[in-house]
Amino acid sequence: MSALFDTFALKDITLRNRIAVPPMCQYSAEDGFVNQWHEANYQSFARGGAGLVIVEATAVSPEGRISPEDLGIWKDDHVAGLANVAQRIKDQGAVAGIQIAHAGRKASANSPWNGDDHLAEDDPKGWPIIGPSAVPFGANLPRTPDAMTKSDIERVKADFVAGAKRALEAGFEWLELHFAHGYLAQSFFSKHANIRNDEYGGDAEGRGRFLLETLEAVREVWPDYLPLTIRFGVIEYDGDDEQTQAESIELVKQFKARGADFVSVSVGFNIPDANIPWGPAFLAPVAERVRREADIPVATAWGVDTPELANETVEKEQLDLVMVGRMHLTNPHWAYFAAKKLGVEKPSWVMPAPYAHWLQRYAPSDER
Ligand SMILES: Cc1cc2nc3c(=O)[nH]c(=O)nc-3n(C[C@H](O)[C@H](O)[C@H](O)COP(=O)(O)O)c2cc1C
Repeated sequence: MSALFDTFALKDITLRNRIAVPPMCQYSAEDGFVNQWHEANYQSFARGGAGLVIVEATAVSPEGRISPEDLGIWKDDHVAGLANVAQRIKDQGAVAGIQIAHAGRKASANSPWNGDDHLAEDDPKGWPIIGPSAVPFGANLPRTPDAMTKSDIERVKADFVAGAKRALEAGFEWLELHFAHGYLAQSFFSKHANIRNDEYGGDAEGRGRFLLETLEAVREVWPDYLPLTIRFGVIEYDGDDEQTQAESIELVKQFKARGADFVSVSVGFNIPDANIPWGPAFLAPVAERVRREADIPVATAWGVDTPELANETVEKEQLDLVMVGRMHLTNPHWAYFAAKKLGVEKPSWVMPAPYAHWLQRYAPSDER
């Protein structure tokens, strides 16, 4: 058996393998509600054999959406649709996860295929945006957010808590807080976005405060027996990478001390002109450092997407889980494909019986 197909246990949850589908926004919802697109999308990843399927960035408030078409978890009416998605994932043998999110100064934007830029301030579909400070991201997202007041901070923390409770009610068993990619929490930690001079800004301790308080508040309502995880950009590729990584790892240690069980290591994306060294598994060594220094299980995404490479990162103990994103869009049965490539005996076991039966008997050739 290859390392990629080992099980993975965290708290009371066991994943059937090390393959996870990271959150990927579908920008296909109306008023935050799940529809048939989401049901089919998430079910297909679970049916294909991944161990964990994490539902896309789901907004904890309407103002926290990236685009008007984001999924939402800000009202009780959203729970039934999300519960349907969670059940479909579980019915296919995967663990159902969800990422809850606030987009901060990157909110109120067009979906990627409609421009990927901020909606105009007078666009009736848009809304006022907030951030740690009145500093815009720039480039395609030029709008300046309102600097958050203390009461804004309390409100957003409460929104995360309410979102976590609804995620639990909907049956999700793996919660991921979106503290990455330049969205609200990540921007609090960034010296590029946060120039506050109160206790939520300044040094790394101040810039990390919003993240830690949000985590702590969520941990109080998210059961101890279920994984509470964080997606966090630990590196910016802005030329100051050693300091950012060192500060980030210190914060990850704090996350762990406050009850986080797992970190999905990613990039900060707080500046538009970062010099990111895109390449196969380029973040795996960064994730491995977080794993080693903070002593916490980790995953990463970003081009860990050949079966051999994915298997190697687990075998070498760089990653505990591999997040395979876009390859799942090209082939929702990527786990089956990986099992075949890695020479797993009876790769069809990753498939449900109506497929597995036939694939065992008449396995198609790789060439076709
Ligand atoms: C369509 C799409 C939507 C995405 N939406 C999210 C999201 O909701 N939350 C998030 O943290 N990352 C999001 N990402 C980033 C992915 O989770 C992942 O990190 C990225 O695709 C790189 O992994 P890959 O090389 O395996 O595709 C998105 C990526 C894609 C392609």
